[in-house]
Amino acid sequence: MSAARLASLIRERQPCVVLTGAGISTESGIPDFRSPAGIWAEVDPFEVASIDAFRRDPERVWDFYRKRIHTLLAAEPNSAHVTLAALEQAGLVEAVVTQNIDRLHTRAGSREVVEVHGSIRSALCPKCGREETVEGVLAQLDIRPAPLCEACGAILKPGVVLFGELLPAAAIDRATELARSAELMLVVGSSLEVWPIAGLPLEAGSLAIVNVGPTALDKRAVLKIDGSAGETLAAVAAAL
Ligand code: APR
Repeated sequence: MSAARLASLIRERQPCVVLTGAGISTESGIPDFRSPAGIWAEVDPFEVASIDAFRRDPERVWDFYRKRIHTLLAAEPNSAHVTLAALEQAGLVEAVVTQNIDRLHTRAGSREVVEVHGSIRSALCPKCGREETVEGVLAQLDIRPAPLCEACGAILKPGVVLFGELLPAAAIDRATELARSAELMLVVGSSLEVWPIAGLPLEAGSLAIVNVGPTALDKRAVLKIDGSAGETLAAVAAAL
């Protein structure tokens, strides 16, 4: 019933833009952050994923991201990622804005993916701006606790937005433009706890949510489906 209702909303309220969070990748074996068994239940984000932590103890931050990069590279897109790519192909999803750094939307075939929190694709030199590939970073991490810039020798920073950092301007501008033009923003797998992205759905004409458990914007949604991303999106696609 609710999948059929969401299918109608997607068909009637075009353009539809999708905003995803860690919950869409749990079915690929990647833990999310704020579920009871989430990453932040195990480790303090301000110790391993903030710009202050990086300045204070870059090797501790790289120990966290080295493990995270290996986990994300070993994961495969799941049916939810594949369904969103198919809906884009069918002209029913204009773009995916993702908070995830795992690259699984792109690997599933989505063409317009706006990575508002960066990605594991690269690392950047905070001193001279040089970019290093994830392969180059992992090769260095095999022999040292933190990768160094080959141009100036500074310690590289993971290519993701750390707590306390500004979001990449081009990505946030594009995400905002997409949200403002959307008749429907569909949120999949996010608690909508982290600003400014948590405010993005409020820029769209209307909001629908597919999420296991509550989100901060449930009351603003025209439809909330409390269910798993893979199963729900498959039912929606079947009803379209
Ligand atoms: N299907 C649908 N929802 C799911 C699934 C699933 N298979 N698995 C988990 N969820 C839900 C969880 O219940 C939770 O409400 O997805 C939500 C994920 O929320 P968070 O863990 O807070 O992840 P997210 O919203 O992406 O966090 C935003 O916070 O720590 C930062 O940078 C990090 O990008 C991240 C940001």
